[in-house]
Amino acid sequence: MQRITTDINLAINSLKIGKLVAIPTETVYGLAGDALNEKALEQIFTLKKRPKHNPLILHISSYEKLQEITKNIPFKAKKLAKKFWPGPLTLVLEKKNEISNTVSAGKSTIAVRVPNHPLTLKLLNSIDFPIAAPSANPSGFISPTSATHVSNFFKDGLDVILNGGLCSKGLESTIIGFDDDNPILYRHGAIPISDLEDCIGTIRKKIKNDLNPNSPGMFSRHYSPRTPLILINNLSKYVYENKHKKIGVLSFEKNEVFTLATKHEILSINGDIDEAAKNFYSALHSLDSKNLDIIITTLLPEKGLGKTINDRLKRAVAN
Ligand code: TXA
Ligand code: MG
Repeated sequence: MQRITTDINLAINSLKIGKLVAIPTETVYGLAGDALNEKALEQIFTLKKRPKHNPLILHISSYEKLQEITKNIPFKAKKLAKKFWPGPLTLVLEKKNEISNTVSAGKSTIAVRVPNHPLTLKLLNSIDFPIAAPSANPSGFISPTSATHVSNFFKDGLDVILNGGLCSKGLESTIIGFDDDNPILYRHGAIPISDLEDCIGTIRKKIKNDLNPNSPGMFSRHYSPRTPLILINNLSKYVYENKHKKIGVLSFEKNEVFTLATKHEILSINGDIDEAAKNFYSALHSLDSKNLDIIITTLLPEKGLGKTINDRLKRAVAN
C-alpha cells in the first residue's frame, strides 16, 4: 500500500532495499532511487516510462560529495555550486566510473544538484549513496508540485511518498552544462539565467532542438496536460466565441473576468512572477482534472522566470 508520510526513516528504509520513493524538493517532486543500485535505476525508467536514452539526474547532500561522482569540474561550475547550492541549479559534469551508464544513458556526463528542501536534505545526509530522481511524473506529463499530484500519477509501484508540502519554487532546476570550460544553458529553470550570469558572466543559450539534443529531456513535447492546451493572444475573445465548449482559462494576472469560462486559474492576482511560477504546475493539474474540452492560455512577458514558464508552455502545446 502507498504511504504518504513525513517520516524520512520510511523513505530511507525503502531506498536502502532498492525501492523507489517520491521526494519533495523546492522545484518539483522527484521519483527517487539509489543511484548505485541498477535494479532501482531500471525501476525508475519503467515506472516513468522514460526512454532509455534520456539520462537521470542525481541528488547529493552537499558540494563536498560532488568530487566523489564527477571529475574535471570547471572553475565556473565550482563558483555556481558554491553560490547556488543547495538550490534549483543542476550542473552537467564529467562522471566518474562509480556512476553507471544507466544513470547517464551512455553519456560521459551526469546531471547533479543539491536540492533545497529540509526533509530531503535530512534524508540525503542520512544515506551514503547519491539518489537518482527525475521529476515524479510519467514521461511527457505535467511535473508534480505536491504529494497528491505524485499519488494521482502512481497508484502502484511507489511505496512511500515523502510529503514535504507544496514545492516553494514550482519549476524545475535550471540546467547548465560546459563545453570545455564554457557554460551553456541546457534548460531554463527556477533560477533566472541573469542571476547565473551575474555570478560567472555570459552563458551560451543553446536550448535544444529534437535532432541532436545535448539534454535529451529537451525533446519538444513535454509537461503536457491530458486535456488539449492551446496558446492564444486574446483569451476573452476565444471564450466569448466558443460558448458551447467547456473551457479552462490559465491566466497570469487578474486582468480579465471570464464569466463564461467553466474554470479559471489565475497564477498570481498581483502579477508576481515568483508566485506565478510556484502556482503554475498546480494550476495545470487542477484544470486537467476538471474534464474540460480545452485549456487556453497565453505567454507571459519574456523576462526572468517568464522565460521558463513560456518554455514549458510552448513544450506543453507542442505536437
Ligand atoms: O528540478 C529538477 O531538476 C527536478 C527535481 C526532482 O530535482 N528534476 C528533474 O528531472 O526535472 P528530469 O529528469 O525531469 O529532468 C532532468 C533533465 C532531463 O531533461 C535530462 O535529459 C537532463 O536533465 N539530463 C540528465 N543528465 C544529463 C546529461 N548527462 N547531459 C545533459 N542533460 C542531462
Ligand atoms: Mg521531468
